[in-house]
Amino acid sequence: MQAQNQKIVVLGTGGTIAGESSSASEGLSYKAAQRGIEALLRSVAEIGQGLPKALNSYQFESEQVAQLDSKDMDFATWQHLAQRCQAWLSQAEVVAVVITHGTDTLEETAYFLSRVVATDKPIVLTCAMRPANFKDADGPQNLRDALTLASVAKGAGVWLVAAGEIHHSQHVQKVHPTRLNAFDSGESGVAGTVTNDQVSWRSDFAPVARADTIDLSRLPDPRSWPWVEVIMNHVQAKPKVVDLLVSAGAQGIVVAGTGNGSISTDLKEGLMRAQASGVQIRIASRCNQGPVITTASHIFPVLAGLSPVKTRVALMLEMASQTGH
Ligand code: SIN
Repeated sequence: MQAQNQKIVVLGTGGTIAGESSSASEGLSYKAAQRGIEALLRSVAEIGQGLPKALNSYQFESEQVAQLDSKDMDFATWQHLAQRCQAWLSQAEVVAVVITHGTDTLEETAYFLSRVVATDKPIVLTCAMRPANFKDADGPQNLRDALTLASVAKGAGVWLVAAGEIHHSQHVQKVHPTRLNAFDSGESGVAGTVTNDQVSWRSDFAPVARADTIDLSRLPDPRSWPWVEVIMNHVQAKPKVVDLLVSAGAQGIVVAGTGNGSISTDLKEGLMRAQASGVQIRIASRCNQGPVITTASHIFPVLAGLSPVKTRVALMLEMASQTGH
């Protein structure tokens, strides 16, 4: 039986889910991050004549942690968000945190939180592809599904719920700029679905090994997190880009390599020069399905299974936690 006074905490950060356009028929041109988290929560009850039954016994708390378009997400907001997750999840009566977020950088935030929030409780992110005042806004249903998942998910894990699908933070990527079902988890596939307020987990979804958590308090002030950039291998990619980054002060470079993380001979030379001067290099793939399989031809480290932007987060955290404050 469920203990009394159990809480689900909902944190707002902005995004299209909180966006508004000039009319209910305008779904693509709008301003993100206009509505507060309380208004988003009210819209959940409106779509289904009240909350799903499974949620009736929970109390809800909400907090506006940020109000931004996620293309403008920054390290200070990340740190604050992670601290708020940590603080709420440390309370015995809080069973899960739900976060509303823009779709554009959601996968980076989700992966970041998975690496810095030390908890054995779930964090569920959700979002929308249409603004809140659009006639068929997807945000209310997505938030409803996220709350439903938060009430039944057990154990640690950072998840995304959108368009009725549950994705794991390790695998998920935004793969489409406009369609409602904009996320994909590549070869791993969705972890489950939420339909009619019911969660179904995929029985053959492979459990994701938990990466080490980096102690939030060991991270320096966000203004001094290391500068790590992502570059891409492509036809005649110029090593000059690497030289310019190094001379400007970049401390780490992630290469979105071609195929299985390959890099042209010229670019490789530039990267070797960078490495010799103390810059950290990591390799990922610009292909958005399937992990890079490390072979003898990879002369720079590959962080298995991570996309270029998540590899960047992992490298930044690795470097920042070594620096400390
Ligand atoms: C954003 O990422 O904040 C805007 C785009 C979106 O949420 O779909």
